[in-house]
Amino acid sequence: MRAKNYLKKFIEGIPKAELHLHIEGTFEPELMFKIAKRNGVNLDYKNIEELKRAYNFSNLQEFLNIYYAGCNVLINEVDFYDMTWEYLKKAKEQNILHTEIMFDPQTHTDRGIMFATVITGIHKALTDAKIKLGITSKLIMSFLRHLPEDSAFETLGQAVPFKDWIDAVGLDSSELGHPPSKFERVFQKAKEEGYLIVAHAGEEGPAEYVTEALELLQVDRIDHGNRCLEDIAVVNDLVERRMALTVCPLSNLKLRVVEDLTKHPLKEMLDKGLFVTINSDDPAYFGGYINENYIEIQNALDLSKEDIIQLAGNSFKASFLNKIEKSQMMNKLKEFTD
Ligand code: ADE
Ligand code: ZN
Repeated sequence: MRAKNYLKKFIEGIPKAELHLHIEGTFEPELMFKIAKRNGVNLDYKNIEELKRAYNFSNLQEFLNIYYAGCNVLINEVDFYDMTWEYLKKAKEQNILHTEIMFDPQTHTDRGIMFATVITGIHKALTDAKIKLGITSKLIMSFLRHLPEDSAFETLGQAVPFKDWIDAVGLDSSELGHPPSKFERVFQKAKEEGYLIVAHAGEEGPAEYVTEALELLQVDRIDHGNRCLEDIAVVNDLVERRMALTVCPLSNLKLRVVEDLTKHPLKEMLDKGLFVTINSDDPAYFGGYINENYIEIQNALDLSKEDIIQLAGNSFKASFLNKIEKSQMMNKLKEFTD
């Protein structure tokens, strides 16, 4: 019991980076109702309790339906600012030094919200976080894979005036039936424009999607990647490339990618030499921010203090920071662990 408490405190204090976080997935019910009222938008749920009761998902699609519905209340720049700022305050409390957040422009532009409104609100909060909280960040623009290729191309075009604010492009939403190959040409253009590349692969989709992300999209990082374990050749390829995977334990539990956290493959991934990190994905929906993800997976898999240090170190090493910034963060980690 004492050892358990000691590790919990250690996890809470350890400096870390978050690399897989959908900003729309940090939209807490309390703030959602507040913004809905401010904007005169009706939610399908009478109150916060009723909304929270709906957070009981059988798969990714059931979650996405509720997540997209919640986004309907986001109308003005200040709404995007407030949502992002709330997450950043939480990140500070949890000793996140650096965060790389995703946003889904099409979720908003498809409802008639301007691309500029969305990105300006998020960008202003990220800038304030650097000044007021000392948190650095990168921004990842993610394409919705259930939409057609031409919609992703259109979004890439809308991003041009804001290129300096965007570091990478990603691929998310309904995975099954929407393989990375559907977006090969868009990602090729994004790469030519100088963006780094990430993609969700192997969350619900097969190991083959991980290979497609590596070979066709030429990703710099894989989001999730769990199902790579079903094909040893894919595992070996990931290890050889030293390709980082952004694993999200509580997300995997809530979306029934695993039936129980004790059956989560994180330890197996570490043992196989995969370059894994721990992240929260959509914390407002999955019952915990990054520290709860570390704490619950540590508990379920009996991870050691050394495993935790390795995972926190991996989060900096797998980030899109430059070499000097990475070594500054690693020094802070070392100061904490020495
Ligand atoms: N969008 C938000 N969260 C997601 C997830 N876990 N997988 C795919 N798309 C998402
Ligand atoms: Zn995700």
